[in-house]
Amino acid sequence: MADHITKKWWHDKVAYQIYPKSFYDSNGDGIGDLPGIISKLDYLKDLGVDIIWLSPCYCSPLADEGYDISDYYNIDPRFGTMADMEKLLDEAKERNMYILMDLVVNHCSDEHEWFKKACEDPDGKYGSFFYLRDKKEGEFPTNWRSYFGGPVWDDLPGTNKQYLHVFHKKQPDLNWENPELRKEVYKNINWWLDKGLGGFRIDAIINIKKALPLRSYDPDRADGLCSIQAMLREAKGIGEYLGEMRDCTFKKYDAFSVGEVFNEKPEEIPDFIGENGYFSSMFDFNETVFGSSEKGWYDAKPITPDDYKRCCFESQAKIGGIGFLSNIIENHDEPRGVSRYIPEGECFPQSKKLLAALNFMLRGLPFIYQGQEIGMENVPFSSIDEVDDISTLDEYQVALNAGLSPKDALDAVAKYSRDNARTPMQWSGEANAGFTSGTPWLKVNPNYTSVNAAAQMDDPDSVRSFYKKLIALRKDPEYKETIVYGALEPVWEDRHNLMAYYRKGDKTLLVIGNYQMDTQTVTLPAPYQRILLNNYPDLTENEHAITLQAYQVLIMEM
Ligand code: GLC
Ligand code: CA
Repeated sequence: MADHITKKWWHDKVAYQIYPKSFYDSNGDGIGDLPGIISKLDYLKDLGVDIIWLSPCYCSPLADEGYDISDYYNIDPRFGTMADMEKLLDEAKERNMYILMDLVVNHCSDEHEWFKKACEDPDGKYGSFFYLRDKKEGEFPTNWRSYFGGPVWDDLPGTNKQYLHVFHKKQPDLNWENPELRKEVYKNINWWLDKGLGGFRIDAIINIKKALPLRSYDPDRADGLCSIQAMLREAKGIGEYLGEMRDCTFKKYDAFSVGEVFNEKPEEIPDFIGENGYFSSMFDFNETVFGSSEKGWYDAKPITPDDYKRCCFESQAKIGGIGFLSNIIENHDEPRGVSRYIPEGECFPQSKKLLAALNFMLRGLPFIYQGQEIGMENVPFSSIDEVDDISTLDEYQVALNAGLSPKDALDAVAKYSRDNARTPMQWSGEANAGFTSGTPWLKVNPNYTSVNAAAQMDDPDSVRSFYKKLIALRKDPEYKETIVYGALEPVWEDRHNLMAYYRKGDKTLLVIGNYQMDTQTVTLPAPYQRILLNNYPDLTENEHAITLQAYQVLIMEM
């Protein structure tokens, strides 16, 4: 398997996503910042992290919490200064760590100077950086529904035109058909890579190619609008731009790039992440999109352990040895994985560790989202007023429109709210979870008194210590080759609430997890040589039969 893959510096690394606003506040204004991140680098190094992805910290009105950029060349003062960023790069380098930034170039902010100039002169150079159409009374140029609800068209201030925004109205879409725009994007990427960045996470990239000419599709809800997916299914030729971007930027620097890619077709996988693919890797979202409904979050179907297993194995089979997926349990757009993938009422340290091991040992690059390593959970929201996330606010409205009571609507959307992952990192049991000495910008999860980093640092049985062992195992020279490059082969696929697979390289490892509270007995096909990791102090065995306790997970060398 390893033979035909050219080895790259990122293959054996472990990545960690930081959501800067909620990571650590150094100056008491309630907002996490770059000096805060610098002060926690040793915490991350101790965990074993190599690559750090920062969600956006560029200048932004923060309408979509930084995914609306008004200046790609500067740091938002709320997060710090360029000098702080440079210091972060230096300090990371000293620790052999790499920094990735978020590349948000499907759209910019309506406060970016390009957009302001487009308003002043829609027929000039900057007008063609966007999708502008003449305004017609009582009719939009197309009937697409924005990802955050409502039509994708808004009036271009001061003109008789409208502009396209597939996300929020403060996020106007950039026109990738325009070579001048593309040149500006590549210039910016290279400017950052010259500064010493390790690479980028590439936001919402699948939206850059629109099906032209722009047109309406069959409505799919009572609002008369249709999902953007209808248009994306027809859009052909994104590869031209992605290949050009790779050649003009990442490739020259041997930089790492990981794409936020949805709905790629199986035959496109080699183009995306194969040898000389557009990206070094792309995220696996098969588990996160499971159960979603076209109607909205209120209609989503929860995922069971058997579904979770199937989703993971489907993705693994789809990618095979073509390249590397980036595996996640959660990110800043998703609820906490332990609250989602562990059935209600069964969330405790053992089950959190099981989820960690099953995910971490998949073939691909492991990404940990801040707080995941200490087992942070979803937030109990008691009112919609506690919610900041624009996506949740829209979905709440969708649920109300569908006839749910305010309480049911809140309960339904709370499960999927992006704010679950955005509450402040729980550093300690002190006030505000030790995140800030001021007032945190978003409420702290009240469970911080029991779930926090300080309590877990020196406890060998903590969730964090388990993550640390998983990371150490991935780096162990004895097993690294197998864990990084080895093939994945599911075992006992049809057994209910059991997830097990081999990793086969120069060693053979068996990862096996009892994904339920009841014990479960399994007869091993062959005796094992040693247990590399176990989330219980011991193992019940009888000849070749092993009896797994509630949520027991094992990594064995066969
Ligand atoms: C991506 C980001 C998300 C953001 C959206 C628009 O999906 O992860 O947070 O809202 O793009 O930029
Ligand atoms: Ca701050």
